[in-house]
Amino acid sequence: MKFFVDTADTAEIKELNDTGLLDGVTTNPSLVKKSGRDFIEVVKEIASICPGPVSAEVVALDHDGMMREAETLRKLADNIAIKVPLTIDGLKTCKKLTGDGTMVNVTLCFSANQALLAAKAGATFISPFVGRLDDIGHPGIELIADIRMIYDNYDFATQILVASVRNPIHIHDAAKLGADVMTAPAAVIKQMFKHPLTDNGIAAFLKDWEATGQKI
Ligand code: E4P
Repeated sequence: MKFFVDTADTAEIKELNDTGLLDGVTTNPSLVKKSGRDFIEVVKEIASICPGPVSAEVVALDHDGMMREAETLRKLADNIAIKVPLTIDGLKTCKKLTGDGTMVNVTLCFSANQALLAAKAGATFISPFVGRLDDIGHPGIELIADIRMIYDNYDFATQILVASVRNPIHIHDAAKLGADVMTAPAAVIKQMFKHPLTDNGIAAFLKDWEATGQKI
């Protein structure tokens, strides 16, 4: 499973990238607003820190406008994935861009039929938002199982990128279902490292080691 971090905070990206465990980055207009940075500038910097796919989202709603914005964004670096919304114009743009060899992340997916359409449009990534489905009382993870089954039935190459991840349980469940990628806030990724028994074990081993009086 590939790990993407869902942020436009370059300090967080650097820290995770240094672990060697980061495979890519996703951003969205809300995350750019939170960073307080210029969009183009921050995307360029992110793409230079992390060699994996970096998703940058268009904000136009029409195909021509999306293509214009995508043109600007894809020139920023070779590892940019253009993020388009799951609309008719978004998928039309997806088809055109992937046909030209550009990576496309189709975002704001909330149903298996939407994911089927994105795969038919040649999407590189489909982003089902599990957390936002949970928020309205629909188990988001069930959508991942449905998309996995449909994509496997037809051998679609589109990668399932589990988005709107809110906790480590989402990641655990998505991994069991065979999701290709997950994107989560840095804090959630860091939670995955933690276990109280690991901390207790380290403390106990260190105490015993000190008692031996030895050094390595
Ligand atoms: C995905 O690409 C989105 O940026 C993100 O996962 C949305 O998460 P949220 O629902 O927590 O805002």
